[in-house]
Amino acid sequence: MSLTPVSPQRYGTVAMSLHWLIALAIIANLAIVFLIEDMPRPDRMFWMGWHKSIGLTVLILSLARVAWRLTHPAPAHPVGISPAQRIAGAALHHLFYLMIIVVPLAGWLMVSTNPRPIPFFGLFDFPAFPGLSGMTREEAHPYHELFENIHVLVGWAFVFLVPVHIAAALYHHHFLKNNVLLRMIPGSKLRP
Ligand code: HEM
Ligand code: HEM
Repeated sequence: MSLTPVSPQRYGTVAMSLHWLIALAIIANLAIVFLIEDMPRPDRMFWMGWHKSIGLTVLILSLARVAWRLTHPAPAHPVGISPAQRIAGAALHHLFYLMIIVVPLAGWLMVSTNPRPIPFFGLFDFPAFPGLSGMTREEAHPYHELFENIHVLVGWAFVFLVPVHIAAALYHHHFLKNNVLLRMIPGSKLRP
């Protein structure tokens, strides 16, 4: 397989792969918490196991993605984009980069305050965040509350912001007729 390098026109293979893997995993995790709400407790526990493993994968991929992005600039803005649109786009992208770290990190911190193991796809136990395990229930309580609040609040923010992000991509594609959507799609043919 030949790797598409980042060019002034489009994202590279690594940036595209990380974008779509992380997007899919986040949508799966939101779907899980949404769908399990009314399930019996054993089923909820089962699916929360998937939620945690998928979420920890997002954390690892997101750290790699941020490192990649810091060393590999994004393609140039298409012509005809107003400064307001540019600022709004950059603001949402920066916020997403923050959220894809903060949400799974807060989840990991939250479960690390429990003495329970954190199975990773049934393969091995993911370590607790250093310094958080071994507290009594009372000692752990305020930390658990704090991380839970951050996790749930910022986690649900995806539900509002992802549709805005998708709408912006479709607006670029169908109305502005530029390459903003195509340059994130592997193998797509860019418009001249
Ligand atoms: C990017 C990945 C993740 C997303 C988008 C996400 C999203 C969410 C959301 C929206 C909720 C709230 C559900 C509700 O209102 O009932 C939630 C709950 C929860 N998440 Fe995550 N999560 C992610 C990663 C993780 C990770 C890595 C862990 C732990 C290792 C985790 C553990 C939990 C737990 C235990 C709950 C239940 C909390 C509670 O309602 O008391 N999540 N998650
Ligand atoms: C949870 C889901 C998602 C997250 C967290 C996310 C996050 C991001 C981030 C941070 C960027 C900026 C990339 C960079 O410049 O380094 C980006 C770009 C992009 N995303 Fe998403 N994304 C998600 C889902 C989607 C979906 C479902 C679509 C489908 C339309 C999409 C379409 C795009 C496009 C077209 C770009 C390129 C924008 C540009 O070149 O300026 N994203 N996304």
